[in-house]
This record gives sequence, C-alpha cells and structure tokens, in this order.
Amino acid sequence: MIDEDNDDFYKFGNNAGINFKKYDKIQVNVTGKNAPAKFESFERSDLHPILKENVKLCKFAEPTPCQKYSIPCIMARRDVMCCAQTGSGKTAAFLLPIIHMMKQDGTPKAEFNKTQTPQVMILCPTRELAIQTFNNTVRLARKCAIRAVMVYGGTTSRFQMGHVEEGANIVIATVGRLNDLCRKNKINLDETQYIVLDEADRMLDMGFNVEVRSLVGRCHREDRQIMMFSATFPREIQTLAADMMKKDYIFVAVGIIGAANPDITQKLIDVTGGNKLNSVEELLQENKDKKVLIFVKTRKNADFLAAKLSSKNHSSTSIHGDRLQDQRELALSEFDKGIRKILVATSVASRGLDIPSVDIVINYDMPDEIGDYVHRIGRTGRVGNCGVAISFIDMEKDSSILPALVHTLKDSQQETPSWIKEVVSGDAVNNAAGDFNATVDIREYTTSLNNDVNNKLKVKPSSSNGADWGEDEPAARNNGPSIKQSQPVNMAGDDDLGW
Ligand SMILES: Nc1ncnc2c1ncn2[C@@H]1O[C@H](COP(=O)(O)OP(=O)(O)OP(=O)(O)O)[C@@H](O)[C@H]1O
Ligand SMILES: [Mg+2]
Repeated sequence: MIDEDNDDFYKFGNNAGINFKKYDKIQVNVTGKNAPAKFESFERSDLHPILKENVKLCKFAEPTPCQKYSIPCIMARRDVMCCAQTGSGKTAAFLLPIIHMMKQDGTPKAEFNKTQTPQVMILCPTRELAIQTFNNTVRLARKCAIRAVMVYGGTTSRFQMGHVEEGANIVIATVGRLNDLCRKNKINLDETQYIVLDEADRMLDMGFNVEVRSLVGRCHREDRQIMMFSATFPREIQTLAADMMKKDYIFVAVGIIGAANPDITQKLIDVTGGNKLNSVEELLQENKDKKVLIFVKTRKNADFLAAKLSSKNHSSTSIHGDRLQDQRELALSEFDKGIRKILVATSVASRGLDIPSVDIVINYDMPDEIGDYVHRIGRTGRVGNCGVAISFIDMEKDSSILPALVHTLKDSQQETPSWIKEVVSGDAVNNAAGDFNATVDIREYTTSLNNDVNNKLKVKPSSSNGADWGEDEPAARNNGPSIKQSQPVNMAGDDDLGW
C-alpha cells in the first residue's frame, strides 16, 4: 500500500551519478516553431511551489537536459515529441508539467463515480512500467489533491475497477485493459486533455498501434495535448507519431536520436560455436555480488537459465510473459531490493524499468532489433551512473543485427572489436543507420530532401492535425507509412515482445 507521507516512499530508483554533470555537454536540438526557452533550475522555474517541494523529496537537485527543454514546452501547452537517452529522467519530464498545469487549471476533485472521466491518460507498453509510473506520479503529485489510478492486465479487473470508481484524475495504463474499461464505460476519455505515450515508438509499432489509436481516438477535447517520449525514435515511427500530433509540435532531441547511453561500457564476446552457459557462469563468477540483469530470447530459456544459475549458487529469478502477474512483480521486487542478485528476463523488461543500481546487463541472446538492444542495455548506467553491458555474439545467428550494432557502438563512443569490423562493411553500417538513427526531426529531414523522403518512406502526408479522428475511422488514419515490423506480435508465442 502506498503511503506518500512515509519517507521510504521517496527512496526509490537511481540516485544521480558522477556523470550527471556531463549531461550539460550533450547537444540538444529543439525544432518546431516558437519553442519556449529552456529553464535552468527547478528552484527558479515556474513550476508550482508544491512541485518544487516534491522534486526536493525525490532528491532531484537539478533538471536533466530532457527536463530542461521539454518541461517549458509542455507548460506552453504544445504537443511534444522527446527523444533522450535511457535513464535521463523522461518520466518526470512529462509528469511535472502535467501536474503543474492541472494545479493551474484547477482540476476537478476526484470523486466516487461508476464512470470516471480522467484529465490525463498515460499509456505504457508493460504492466511493470505502468506500476512504476504510477508510483512516480504519486510521489510527484503529493499534496496536489490529484488522484492517480493504474489499470493493467494480468490481474482481475474487479479490484482495479473498485479503485478507479473512487476517483481518477490521472489514469496510467496498459492499452488492453484500458480499452476494456472504456468499452465497459468504467472510464470515459471525453474530458482527457493530456495524453502521454511513454516508450512512444513501441506504442506506435504494429503490436500496439491499433489499440493506442483507438484510445487516443476516444479523447475528443479540441485542446488535447499529446506528449511522446522514448530513447529511440526510428524515422518511420516519427512519421506515424507526427500524424497524431498538432502540426506545430515541438521535437526535443537530446544527443543522437536512438543512440545508446555513453555512460554504459559495451563489451561484445564472440560465442560462436561455444557454450553460452559456461560463458555466463564465468562472468558471474568474476562478478560475484554484482547486480546482473540477463536478457534471453524465449520464456522457456528464461526459466531454464534462472533455475540453472540458482542451482549453481547464483541466486536468480526470472520475469517473462508466461509467469503470473504476482510472480512477475515478486521477481522484479526481489531484484529491485537486491534479495536476488540476478534477474533473467525476456524483452518484457527491456523498456523503461528503473531498477536501482544494476551493475551489468548481459545479452545472453542478442535481440533481433537494435532498438531493443539500446533499451535493454539502458537498464544500467542510469542518471549519470556508469554501467556495463556484455553481449554474447553468435556470428551465425546474430549477423543481421551487426551493422546496426556497429553504428550504435560508434554513436556511443565505444570500440568495435576487430573480429566484428572484419565481417561488417562500411556500406552496411551506413545503410543500417539510415533507418534507425537520425540527427534531425523528421520534418527537417523531409524539407532537406525537398520532400523526396515522402516517396522514399512511402509516406502519405496527413493534412489533419489529428484532433478530429476517431476509432470509427481507421481507414482515414491508416495512411501512414508501411511500418517495418521487427517481429510479429505473437501473444501465444515463445518470444516476449514487451507487453
Ligand atoms: N533531475 C533529476 N535528478 C536526479 N535524478 C533524477 C532526475 N530526474 C529523474 N531522476 C531519476 O533518474 C532515474 C531515471 O529516470 P527515468 O526512469 O524517468 O528515465 P527515462 O529517461 O524514462 O529512462 P528509460 O528510457 O529507460 O525509460 C529515476 O530513478 C529518476 O528518479
Ligand atoms: Mg522512461
């Protein structure tokens, strides 16, 4: 049970590390007309005084770059797309200005009602991320008379519905359960003014696209404001995102879009033809007492590896889509508190989770997608702390990701091992970069190529500002680019893709 007056509730996540000051050196590109100026300190900002208090309780001394630039834009009531590296405080970058505006507007008091009409909808790709975001919302909205609720799948909806009925100003949700509650008229989004897609590129790829559009289509207020945040924003997804937002949205790019966090030392180990189990055991032996997050491809393998490591005295647990929700939450909580030093996970744990002090991330199996790699390794090295990511490369199975991986290593100032350089051509690296990484806002890219990019990306530009579409018009909205989906979403399959 959450007790916002308990001091322990403000001991959470990661404390700022030694490289926090280096954030100031990161280049930030802000595009979109008349973008407001950045602010320099929480204390001297226009944020509501209660929020300044709450920020202090969270021990946020200074804002991170994505906070400095995004918060004033959101407070100026602009739609915002923000791309900033993993662990750089994107959650507070959207929560603080939203709570500030709610205070300013005099948000209606949350009251019992069978149908709730929240002012804010925050969508997340996984249940655990929804829970984490809910806790952060309660922390930052302390003493603001704003009630947040969370709704997510994997648990009985009756219990959550009871909570929702008590009053909901902010709903933090995974999409399936929220759509369900909307259909049952437990939640009505007619009054929803602020919409956040966290991990926006994931929310807009084919796995979630339809459900997200259905939910956003339920938000009918003309003055609705959309905010999208992620550490990765492939161009195609930027185009889809832009299609939902007002034309004059502001794009905040902190550093190189889609690049891995340079505070993470990335190491690659060639395991072709070798025994990965032996390799991981050696690594764990060398790193006794370190907190290690290991990513594998399949649910079965997650359980197998966790059991195997536990049998060798490496206290491990696992998280993946086949585990019951309370088992998933227990596994995460035990790893969070350090009760278990090793968590074996599928990609369900790759995005957004802010687990305290993860020392090492191991890619036991490489992901198929470079974006997934960037998010996975981003579970370490957060808010200016140093981290280590070690990836097992099987040259036979992982060859398709190598060009993009080499590009990512370069962007994040890491060495590429010679055994990889030998097999990946410069052209392949440049081609891989084209799709994923970009240094500019898609609108600038479009202009700079005399709109030629529209043909290249097969994009039909939308003339609407996104404020008028509803879920009954899917054809009208499906005129974006054909998205290259990395992997099919297969709920019954063996791979976890992060819902
Ligand atoms: N201004 C700040 N000063 C110090 N710590 C901060 C500040 N803002 C956020 N944090 C802390 O930084 C950690 C990372 O924040 P957060 O989870 O929002 O990162 P993120 O950018 O959303 O990462 P990801 O891309 O993985 O989702 C959290 O523990 C958060 O409490
Ligand atoms: Mg986040």
